[in-house]
Amino acid sequence: MSSEPTAPTPVGARRGDPLPQELLDDAERMPAEEVRDLQLGGLRRTLKHAYDNVELYRGKFDAAGVAPEDCRTLEDLARFPFTTKADLRDTYPFGMFAVPMDQVRRLHASSGTTGRPTVVGYTEGDLSMWADVVARSIRAAGGRPGHKVHISYGYGLFTGGLGAHYGAERAGCTVIPASGGMTARQVQIIQDFEPDIIMVTPSYMLTLLDEFERQGVDPRSTSLKVGIFGAEPWTEEMRREIEGRMDIHAVDIYGLSEVIGPGVAQECVETKDGLHVWEDHFLPEIVDPLSDEVLAPGDGGELVFTSLTKEALPIIRYRTRDLTRLLPGTARPGFRRIEKITGRCDDMIILRGVNVFPSQVEEIVLRTPGVAPHFQIQLSRRGRMDHMTVQVEARPSADSAQREAAAKAIAQGVKDGVGVSVEVAIVDPETLERSLGKLRRVKDTRRT
Ligand code: DLL
Repeated sequence: MSSEPTAPTPVGARRGDPLPQELLDDAERMPAEEVRDLQLGGLRRTLKHAYDNVELYRGKFDAAGVAPEDCRTLEDLARFPFTTKADLRDTYPFGMFAVPMDQVRRLHASSGTTGRPTVVGYTEGDLSMWADVVARSIRAAGGRPGHKVHISYGYGLFTGGLGAHYGAERAGCTVIPASGGMTARQVQIIQDFEPDIIMVTPSYMLTLLDEFERQGVDPRSTSLKVGIFGAEPWTEEMRREIEGRMDIHAVDIYGLSEVIGPGVAQECVETKDGLHVWEDHFLPEIVDPLSDEVLAPGDGGELVFTSLTKEALPIIRYRTRDLTRLLPGTARPGFRRIEKITGRCDDMIILRGVNVFPSQVEEIVLRTPGVAPHFQIQLSRRGRMDHMTVQVEARPSADSAQREAAAKAIAQGVKDGVGVSVEVAIVDPETLERSLGKLRRVKDTRRT
């Protein structure tokens, strides 16, 4: 997989130009050692705040035989217990809040796939820090004061819409709070209001792109220069697809509700080489998802986060389930990067003993001629065997010979690249469900 970016129209600075120094904030200019010092102070305060104010943390620390004072170096964090989504569910709704309710200014929740949602809370200070990190992310993506930002992340309990919204305002931009849905109208608004930046899930961006084309509008003719895409995994192939069809820079934003929302890490437009973690607020670790051991720099594993400045919901060693590796900083040398997240531990399909990630299938589908970038994975049982079908939409122009060739190429690509045999069904254009936000790629009927 090549990470060679395409070269769409420049935004802000010329492509490849670093962000002018005067636009960086103090923490972005810090050398790594200074960041580490800052982190240790934040970590010690957070551990104490969590222990003193959250029963669940007190119980877990006591059971593990560690106290906040035992943390003298950043490495000592490894002695503290992990936190999981189950902890938040068990204390539903507010049991992990570390401040009295009258100091909580906002609640958000993430629906998850099973059972109760995870509820998160923010003090005024938390909301301000969140706006700061999202504003920093928008600047890193090429956003400048005066730019118009069209936000198609959903507004509501999901952190995407409001998180992006206040960050864009903080960055001095003009916000267009479109939220998700009403796709035809979004396309109209983009043409009429002429935004510079769009913030949206990559899968909904594809839905919007199709709508542009349906309305006979060339997506390359819009005012948009940058897309800030996140909330779900997407690949380099998807970047090329979107940049090619739209003439924009497509950059990646990462975050999760339990840690703050969007704005935990951001890809810089001048390098497009993974996402810098805003380490003055969030401390990353990579652990082996099975043995729980902390892994060495550069090793791939599960991303774990500890908050360093949060008040309402301090989070200690939160197991994100997201798989990546930690790399040294480039465009912001004081902060480390995470490699683009292409899968979650729980997204992984185990098909007849082989691990398969939907992102691997995405890469193959997107480089196959004759098919659109819309696909769905269906898992079923045939007799005693698990069976995987990849349904892929044909391009309207593809004839039956091209469809057949595409099906063969995708099946062969998955066999060679991933090591499993799958059935590929090429379906008619516009027949697969479209994303209106976060997309569910996999339909698993094996146990129903
Ligand atoms: O998705 C926050 C967000 C909103 C991030 C808008 C970026 C843009 P949750 O709903 O709690 O929060 O879901 C968090 O989404 O653990 C990842 O599995 C996935 N995710 C988020 N950003 C990315 C990304 C928001 N850039 C979960 N790449 C996370 C891959 C992502 N996966």
